[in-house]
Amino acid sequence: MQSVNQQTAHAERVAALLREMTLAEKIGQMTLVEKNSITLHDVERYFIGGLLSGGGGYPSPNTPENWGKMVDEFQKHALNTRLAIPMIYGVDAVHGHNNVVGATIFPHNIGLGATRNPQLVRQIARATAVELAATGIYWNYAPALSVPQDIRWGRTFEGFSERTELVTELSVAYLEGLQNPQGVLDLDAPTAVLGTPKHFVGDGGTSFGSSTTFIAVQYLLDQGVTDVDEATLRELHLAPYLRALEAGARCVMASFSSWGGMKMHANRYLLTEVLKNELGFSGFIVTDWEAVNQITPDYYEAVVTSINAGIDMNMVPFDYKKFIHCLTKAVNDGDVSMQRIDDAVSRILRVKLEMGLFERPYSQPKLLPEVGSAAHRQLAREAVAQSAVLLKNEGNLLPLAKDTRLIFLAGEANDLGLQSGGWSIEWQGKSGPITDGTTLLAALVDSESTDSQVVFDRFGNFDDQVNANGEPQQADVAVVVLAEHPYAEGKGDRIDLALSKEEQELIARVRARAGKLVIILMSGRPLIITDVLGQADAFVAAFWPGSEAAGLADLLLGDKPFTGKLSYTWPRSMEQIPLNGNTGGEPLFPFGFGLST
Ligand code: GLC
Repeated sequence: MQSVNQQTAHAERVAALLREMTLAEKIGQMTLVEKNSITLHDVERYFIGGLLSGGGGYPSPNTPENWGKMVDEFQKHALNTRLAIPMIYGVDAVHGHNNVVGATIFPHNIGLGATRNPQLVRQIARATAVELAATGIYWNYAPALSVPQDIRWGRTFEGFSERTELVTELSVAYLEGLQNPQGVLDLDAPTAVLGTPKHFVGDGGTSFGSSTTFIAVQYLLDQGVTDVDEATLRELHLAPYLRALEAGARCVMASFSSWGGMKMHANRYLLTEVLKNELGFSGFIVTDWEAVNQITPDYYEAVVTSINAGIDMNMVPFDYKKFIHCLTKAVNDGDVSMQRIDDAVSRILRVKLEMGLFERPYSQPKLLPEVGSAAHRQLAREAVAQSAVLLKNEGNLLPLAKDTRLIFLAGEANDLGLQSGGWSIEWQGKSGPITDGTTLLAALVDSESTDSQVVFDRFGNFDDQVNANGEPQQADVAVVVLAEHPYAEGKGDRIDLALSKEEQELIARVRARAGKLVIILMSGRPLIITDVLGQADAFVAAFWPGSEAAGLADLLLGDKPFTGKLSYTWPRSMEQIPLNGNTGGEPLFPFGFGLST
């Protein structure tokens, strides 16, 4: 926490800088540009205050060392300006430093919600912060404070839960992990990272079909309309922000969504009157990706409206010259006051000073061994074990008996990309060996905890497995791994959450070849599994575990107990969506369900 003397010193330094800054230097501070859109020369020429890597915005080669070099190079040019104000570099490290090959990838928030373990979440954020600091990145666009109410939303997995209280507890723990290296708020600490509670406010409450965004596909819920009254907005969606501010949030990201008949980015009531005045938020508000453009087709008017509504830094992320030109014109024409500009710039500078960015603007190569370290991977493995939820366990099949002789393993048990989900190396994630880590197949084969023979075939074809009489060999146990293909944001909005025909056929094929069947589902949300549940003796909801699927092997083999509890209601059918099964009837599994072993 800042001492009074530090606060005074920062206020004086901000005032001194403001007195010296030209309008161009001030507007430069309010400009956040994607690193592929700008030259090093223009970082200097336009006094750019912030840079980011959008999802997957990595250097080539994509190595931790190269990330640090890239960010330092931008910083060097930002500091090569008249007043040498450091830029702040941000990424979406939403489940580890997930754009970086070799970094530890943790379970997504939907899985961390199932752990009910704030201390674990704090440790994960702390490990993520150290890996970020190694690469010179001190700003993380996380945690999401979303409270998803409709699991057809493509960002359900970024939310800890459908319940506000659980979102509040775990998102605050995550923020503390980023900003409190020694357990107390200390943004000035060398490995402290600025968190960004997002997306303010009501992003998880949009109605199905209310989105007007089309980015390669028609979004259905993402960036749509949060059609609730103010009391509900405050109770369900605003509540986590109150605790995040108390915990020391110094940056908040505005939501693409709309409320009260307008885009959040134009909503002066919520951005300024509620967040800044009523709740006393003295940090800075950053836009989402080009979100200002959605306010109105007239870009000049959109810029004026958003800045006057309370936006302080604009994630522009491409045409920064156009933004700078418009805002400069707006000030010169009196459409945006210099007082508003000075307020925005003061907020930004104050946070940069609190972060010690003026004194320590560069990467910390000595921390590079921490990126993807054994200790961080062990933490991720533990998180995987605590985040999986055991939904069915007929005859206590799990953990598997030590004398299980033959295991047939089928499905997506050998794909790091699929087990990691969205926001992994690429914005949308992708299948294949995208990074370092351990698949379930590798973990089972390498495990010291079992002498079972593991035979893997991704397509569940075990025709080559025959017994001494040349008849099809029956496995003692078969494990089928299903994986929802990765996505991010509105590209993950779905009308239907049924399993595919191929997945149902795979289950039937493997069912016929084993005495017992375990199904493991890796997904960004609950899917409709009602029709296949009866074929499984045991069913595990693993969500998207990340790079360390050995945590799942620990559960199957009994090295760790199942403890996870659902942080979302699991619907029986699509008719029970959106949440609360507004068509009545019991869900397949209620919030909080989870068998133990
Ligand atoms: C994206 C997301 C936001 C992310 C930002 C930068 O569109 O909405 O969560 O932080 O852009 O990648």
